[in-house]
Amino acid sequence: MKLAATKFGERILRPTGALELMTDLGEAVQLATGRTVHMLGGGNPARIPALEAVYRRRLREIAGDDAQLGRFAASYPAPAGDHAFRVALAETLALKYGWPLTERNVALTSGSQTAFTVLFNLFAGECADGSYKRILLPVAPEYIGYADVGLSDGMLVAQRAAIEEFPDGFFKYRVQFEGLEAIEDVGAVCVSRPTNPSGNVLTLDELRRLEELARARAVPLIIDAAYGEPFPGIQFVEPGLLWNENTVLCLSLSKLGLPATRTGIVVAHEEVIEALTAFNATASLAPGATGAVIVEPLLRSGELEALCAETIRPYYAARSSEAVERLRDACRGLPLRIHRPEGAFFLWLWFPGLPITSQELYRRLKARGVYVLSGHHFFPGLADDWQHRNECIRINASQAPESVAAGVLAIAEEVRRAVAGAEA
Ligand SMILES: Cc1ncc(COP(=O)(O)O)c(C=O)c1O
Repeated sequence: MKLAATKFGERILRPTGALELMTDLGEAVQLATGRTVHMLGGGNPARIPALEAVYRRRLREIAGDDAQLGRFAASYPAPAGDHAFRVALAETLALKYGWPLTERNVALTSGSQTAFTVLFNLFAGECADGSYKRILLPVAPEYIGYADVGLSDGMLVAQRAAIEEFPDGFFKYRVQFEGLEAIEDVGAVCVSRPTNPSGNVLTLDELRRLEELARARAVPLIIDAAYGEPFPGIQFVEPGLLWNENTVLCLSLSKLGLPATRTGIVVAHEEVIEALTAFNATASLAPGATGAVIVEPLLRSGELEALCAETIRPYYAARSSEAVERLRDACRGLPLRIHRPEGAFFLWLWFPGLPITSQELYRRLKARGVYVLSGHHFFPGLADDWQHRNECIRINASQAPESVAAGVLAIAEEVRRAVAGAEA
């Protein structure tokens, strides 16, 4: 049988970064039975006992309530997603931020990854008039998951970030606005905030300027807030968010500790919501409702907001500071820079002048059972050969403390060995 005989088959079977990384994740879990594995590579959220206690309570409530159980498992939701959740979210956001929203501005998808697949192909690719549009990622490095969702090649165009270095060994990416306006054929602008992989939080001023840039071109600004406000709120600086009819806000329940429910959420102009609804109906009849039913009363009562502020954010902030300390201890004397951890749960390490590539460092660490992500994956759409992309790795600092500790020691050892090898 020749599976890849069609263009679709070819496209879906080609090796993509996301496929490689998710396969790694699955493999590492299986390997873990036979040997010690330190998984600092994936994007799994931490399992926070106080948070899971709330979900356990919700599951008991659902099991004991006929109407909730019906929504949870026994009936198809609307193609735009569970109606009560959409109403609750629109009302909560309208109250918190003053945005003019109704449930007609909200659609659910099977994970926000699915939303990006639809949105990128909605706004970019071949157009009916024969023109070709691209998604502009104005701050590279950016989320690897954007890399391969386009149904045609060349759908992404990125601009490298400007680097600001601080005396304390941290650095921060800034939007380099010069040159952005000259990039042609843009169908939408997209940023993650906080950014995966760097933990950068674009300032509100940067966000406003990007929104103006998008509006001037009559294209939408897509804001991926999978880690940020309003939930899970893993954002340590620059509170606040913007939304108007030209922005498409993408949220997710994954980093709230519910990735297996596969719940993505899009808040946008009604026309965008109609497109997502049509896709849901055609591709999968409807998105799942389990996550929405678990979270809806927590959203309404304000319990979710309190959990984000009092449990989730402090948990990740503490884990991130611990990991920074460990790294600095272990890497004494090495040229280590760490991106300021401003949000999300990753640390983004930059070793300027690293004598091996980050991919080789990844391989050497993997051989020792330490899984990290090589930084080069995180520059989708960037055409120039910026050396920086081969000098960075991403670690998930929120996993088991003993794994983070062991992983950090292994990283320091391997970098030290590479540097010594180059000097010898
Ligand atoms: C920045 C960012 N956006 C979106 C996603 C997709 O999340 P999900 O499909 O689980 O909602 C992820 C997952 O890691 C992410 O890091």
